[in-house]
Amino acid sequence: MEEIVALCKRRGFVFPSSEIYGGLGSTYDYGHYGVLLKNNVKAEWWKAMLQERDDIVAVDSAILQHPRVWEASGHLEGFTDPLVQCLGKCKKRWREDHLREAVEAEGGDPNAELRCPECGGELSEPRQFNLMFETHVGPVAEEGSTVYLRPETAQGIFINFKNVLGFARKKPPFGIAQVGKSFRNEITPGNFIFRTREFEQMEMEYFVPPAEAQKWHQHWMAERERWYTELGIRPDHLRVRAHGEDELSHYSSATSDIEYLFPIGWSELEGIADRGDFDLTQHAKFSGEKLEYFDQQTKERYVPHVIEPAAGADRATLAFLVDSYEVEEVEGRQRTVLRLHPRLAPVKVAVLPLVSKDGLPEKAREIFGDLRRRLPTEFDEGGSIGKRYRRQDEIGTPWGITVDHQTMEDDSVTLRDRDSLEQVRVPIEGLGDELVGRLEAPWRSPKLG
Ligand code: GAP
Repeated sequence: MEEIVALCKRRGFVFPSSEIYGGLGSTYDYGHYGVLLKNNVKAEWWKAMLQERDDIVAVDSAILQHPRVWEASGHLEGFTDPLVQCLGKCKKRWREDHLREAVEAEGGDPNAELRCPECGGELSEPRQFNLMFETHVGPVAEEGSTVYLRPETAQGIFINFKNVLGFARKKPPFGIAQVGKSFRNEITPGNFIFRTREFEQMEMEYFVPPAEAQKWHQHWMAERERWYTELGIRPDHLRVRAHGEDELSHYSSATSDIEYLFPIGWSELEGIADRGDFDLTQHAKFSGEKLEYFDQQTKERYVPHVIEPAAGADRATLAFLVDSYEVEEVEGRQRTVLRLHPRLAPVKVAVLPLVSKDGLPEKAREIFGDLRRRLPTEFDEGGSIGKRYRRQDEIGTPWGITVDHQTMEDDSVTLRDRDSLEQVRVPIEGLGDELVGRLEAPWRSPKLG
């Protein structure tokens, strides 16, 4: 993990937030390449949800919602984690369930008395701590002005169920998808962008006839696993784990996590829950609106059940970074490379003049000008060619175009492949088509052999 964190800082993917003020624990800012990478992750998610199917529509709901939303959803009462505090020297706060899991993972008895992992001190009795951030609307904090930063994007979908049914001309099974920020006052954030207090979710609520819930739960588990592997995650680094009864969220009748083998061990990447009719029923009760579907053909009226694939954009970005990261030796020198799927790579092609003279930079700029209209392209003329290749390898750029003296004679360039390191001579004419063709071709991670 430290190597990934260092690479992210060095190459401008992700920085600790508020660094010039000494940082604010576990908050991060994304730099240029991080923005591009996470945007690509989200774009691929949207593509899988909207472009590749015709049964899902999009919404973008407000972060601040009516406080009754969180009463109805059960978050005000039930969105809590068990907090224990060290009564010894360090006074640190911990999540009791995480401590018990850690004891169990090391072969100990999870029900035995716990001690503070930091200083060995005694721990307080657990108390339920609500994870929602509270704030106030209006200039003064007074009764009735309390609102919450949403802890999941899902509720913004349920409260728009009726609006969407009204315009989308869909019938169950159909889905509503949303990408956006969520906020949780996590007791123990950490492990870089794996668990933070402000993060982005990619959630889709799939409304189905109740009798079909199980079938669609299976469908979405397979679909979501396929999405990660198609984008290059090694299948043996993914597994599906069903939640035990005691782990289920207050709204869920069944949840399976897609877990990824992070450097911290197997951990949740995405949760796929069967939420039953819990949310629509609750919002109907609290709002007084009918939130159900009337089937014109069968004349049947029912509250659809919901299958929810809920992913984290930051956590997925971390998984793609981890899985693509490699350090290898090439001709006696160490090379660090991100073997990202080309569709995820922040920059697709770098145009590099071999030297900064003899008209090569001008020629390279011409090629750059043409290519950037077709695909994300970078121009780089500073430093030795070897250094520039290494920089592009570290940000995962799949192709490099080198403009050299031969280019000036015959309008050809070298095209370098990030993974095979193969360099071929190709004509400038048709270069855009060649690269777009490569980008659209099926891709298989070289890490799979
Ligand atoms: N609507 C259901 C829901 O929010 P969740 O399992 O709590 O379910 C879904 O969250 C996904 O959101 C997680 O699998 C994870 O990828 C991401 N996520 C949740 N909490 C996070 C946090 N504190 N930091 C980063 N990502 C988080």
